[in-house]
Amino acid sequence: MYTLSELQKAVADYMNHLDVDGNPHSLYEPIAYSIGAGGKRLRPMLTVLACNIFSDNALLALPAAAALEVFHTFTLLHDDIMDNAPTRRGKPSVYGKWGTNAAILSGDAMMIYSYKLLQQTPVEFLPAVLGCFNYTAMTVCEGQQCDMSFESREDVSMEEYMDMINKKTAALLAGSTIIGAIQGGADPQNRQHLFVFATELGLAFQLQDDLLDAFGTEAQLGKPIGGDILEAKKSFLLLTALQRADGESRKHLLNLLHDNTIAPAEKIAEVLRIYNHLGVREVAETEITSHFNKAMEALDALDAEPERITPLRELALGLLGRNK
Ligand code: IPE
Ligand code: IPE
Ligand code: MG
Ligand code: MG
Ligand code: MG
Repeated sequence: MYTLSELQKAVADYMNHLDVDGNPHSLYEPIAYSIGAGGKRLRPMLTVLACNIFSDNALLALPAAAALEVFHTFTLLHDDIMDNAPTRRGKPSVYGKWGTNAAILSGDAMMIYSYKLLQQTPVEFLPAVLGCFNYTAMTVCEGQQCDMSFESREDVSMEEYMDMINKKTAALLAGSTIIGAIQGGADPQNRQHLFVFATELGLAFQLQDDLLDAFGTEAQLGKPIGGDILEAKKSFLLLTALQRADGESRKHLLNLLHDNTIAPAEKIAEVLRIYNHLGVREVAETEITSHFNKAMEALDALDAEPERITPLRELALGLLGRNK
């Protein structure tokens, strides 16, 4: 069994030694750039930590863990095109630096590269791992499409929003965790508890992402604040504000979001003023805590030695109150 920091080091080493060079250089350079830009490495950590609960050889899950991180980073390349986001992980995004075409094609190549990594999974686990990976990847696309479609809708319900973030974000955390559990030899019951854990963690994680997009700091987050407001995203904050606002201010908020005559900084400041007035931040924080607690309860339900669960619990606890 490994400690959290041992596995963090193993994941960092593995990611830093991926062979992502080739010809033409213009295809591979954005790949090396985006993978090398770091990030929290949450998804590969979930994979090896879940494996670590059931196996003394969690490192065998490293290729699949890396596949999940490369897949995640690929989704960010395309997401930044779709969200008009020039900055990512504290640097220009691939879209911002090389443009749309590079972000499309280097992104496509990364998705294929994630399958090359996955192919190195021990053969006895490969069919189950591949099945889980494919299901997860398709679910992320479904969620991302909902996110995009919601931009131009004014009647998105909270249920639709929760389903959307479940698909675009929580599914990948769940898939990453289950792919680790499969390789550790977890039984179906334990897999189910881990699925609930990672899904609830993923919901809390995306709610935090929405919160940080409005109330975080650019220095910590590595991207400008207010992107969701400028894109008229149906974030948890916006939906909560629309629920709480009376008729007039509801109309004002909706008009504001689609008003292209206002300077971006002013628009962000005005929407934040409304959020503050309506207390949406506190509502989001309560919702985050609730999903986080459900995640922790699911971990407690695992049938495994408590000390084997500790590293995964530590990782999850480190996400509570995150500022990046
Ligand atoms: C960003 O994910 C996209 C979401 C699903 C919220 P992360 O916040 O995990 O991004 P990195 O990998 O740390 O950069
Ligand atoms: C990203 O959601 C989810 C993906 C599947 C890419 P966001 O669009 O909110 O992620 P950030 O805020 O750009 O990282
Ligand atoms: Mg997006
Ligand atoms: Mg985005
Ligand atoms: Mg976001």
